[in-house]
Amino acid sequence: MSDQDPTIYLNGEFLPLSKARIPVLDRGFLFGDGVYEVIPVYGGKPLRLEEHLRRLDQSLAGIRMQSPYPDTEWSTIFDHLINGNHDQQIYLQVTRGADLKRDHAIPNQLQPTVFAMCTAIAPIPLAGIKAVTVQDTRWDRCNIKAITLLANVLLRQEALDEGAAEAILIRDGLVLEGSASNIFLVKDGRVITPPKGPSILPGITRDLVLELAAASGFPTEQRDIRQEELPSADEFWITSSTREILAVTELDGRLIHGGQPGPVWHKVLKAYQDYKSALREAGSSL
Ligand SMILES: Cc1ncc(COP(=O)(O)O)c(C=O)c1O
Repeated sequence: MSDQDPTIYLNGEFLPLSKARIPVLDRGFLFGDGVYEVIPVYGGKPLRLEEHLRRLDQSLAGIRMQSPYPDTEWSTIFDHLINGNHDQQIYLQVTRGADLKRDHAIPNQLQPTVFAMCTAIAPIPLAGIKAVTVQDTRWDRCNIKAITLLANVLLRQEALDEGAAEAILIRDGLVLEGSASNIFLVKDGRVITPPKGPSILPGITRDLVLELAAASGFPTEQRDIRQEELPSADEFWITSSTREILAVTELDGRLIHGGQPGPVWHKVLKAYQDYKSALREAGSSL
């Protein structure tokens, strides 16, 4: 096994990535008919595994499917894929499977396609990032972690075209989330994030950051954030499993906290790093 050709899991088998094949009539390939998860791994242990698997159940239920495996089987698969103690991420995807014909209607008895792999986590920039706001063009069921990501892809590219690292999505005047991240605004020491609902993905990092912010002594609020609040934000962050907590230091060309990550970010990020260190030393998933 090598970094270029890692061992992956596909439908009951472990095999080199270069040898993995799926049928062209797979509904994931044809319709984007499937869901996925991304789970960070520290010290060989998946972070918040239980929460990720419950969100997978929710996503699957949202597309009228059930988990193909019990938690114990998922754990066995992940243990097999995790390679050493360095920081890694598990990617897993379940699609409805391959049918004999291309038809939108959901067929009755399909065997789902199950794919999982584990790769290194890319280094995370600590200096702060630029972001831009864009109108959210996605559908109304963003709480499902669907593999159908075309809108997210185009929105992220809009941001990249403007020299920014993330697109912050606005709908009906509300700041919802990033193209692949949740958002937090800090105002007068309060840590604020939009409530869960069909307009955002219920991020596992979001929940952890809310817990860690509260434990670090910052009052937290889950409420709508209006676009007009952005110019007066003391800090603005994006969060995700692979980018942890990133400070947005320039939003729509305007500097936030003088273009530097702010003090609340420093404290909550420290708590996040401590949490990861505890997981590295712990006996099981935290
Ligand atoms: C649209 C969207 N929102 C939020 C998140 C953050 O979720 P998590 O913290 O579980 O990685 C992601 C992650 O990829 C995402 O794609």
